Amino acid sequence: MNFMDIFKLLLGVLLAGVIGLGAAQMADLTSSASVPAKMAYPIAADADSSQAANAGADTEKAEESVLDLLVTASAEKGKKVAKKCTACHTFDQGGPNRTGPNLWDVVNKAKASAEGFSYSNGLAAMGAAGEVWTYESIDKLILKPKAYISDTKMSFAGLKKVKDRANMIAYLRSLSDSPAPLPTDAAEATDATEAEMAPASEDMPAATDSEAPADATTAQ
Ligand code: HEC
Repeated sequence: MNFMDIFKLLLGVLLAGVIGLGAAQMADLTSSASVPAKMAYPIAADADSSQAANAGADTEKAEESVLDLLVTASAEKGKKVAKKCTACHTFDQGGPNRTGPNLWDVVNKAKASAEGFSYSNGLAAMGAAGEVWTYESIDKLILKPKAYISDTKMSFAGLKKVKDRANMIAYLRSLSDSPAPLPTDAAEATDATEAEMAPASEDMPAATDSEAPADATTAQ
């Protein structure tokens, strides 16, 4: 054998190997690749579309304010959200303080005013400054307590979803003998007569009507 013969032989072996390998790969590809190739499409399409939908929903929600949502919010759904609070709070009238203060009638109530509860310095200072729990400030607290009151004793991560917060606040609002006016009520009241606004915004003493309180609480 001369050099050329050896070369050809080696080339032949090499070629045969390459072809054999190629064929094996082709066989692999055709048998196994067909499955993922088919599945890849729907999965990718699904992930894309649902991500897009989620992103859209999230940005929409981020733009919505709790005040806007409050008008259509559900106190019933809020009651379910409140299960996240009941480890620390009672919601019934005259209920005891636990790790957190009782939350009956907290909307428009002076901050840090639950009797016998030892508040953080931060929240106590807000109360001392005469601040009350508005819809907005409750929203900020339950979104992220630590961000609202840096030294808060409320060790709760927060409610990320604006809908949850709106429903939660709607529930808190319902826990009252005379629920605070909704944001739109208040806005309309300023345009409307003073006579209508007064009873809506003032807290009427519970003694003035004997039946309404019971109805109000059960109806909501
Ligand atoms: C781990 C216990 C815990 C959980 C869970 C919790 N809270 Fe609190 N909450 C507290 C404590 C403690 C305080 C007092 C905060 C302070 O002094 O800074 C507080 C204070 C509050 C206040 C202010 C009351 C006042 O008298 O000024 C509101 C309103 C409130 N929480 C609402 C909620 C809501 C709504 C939830 C559920 C979504 C919730 N909390 C979940 C412990 C908790």
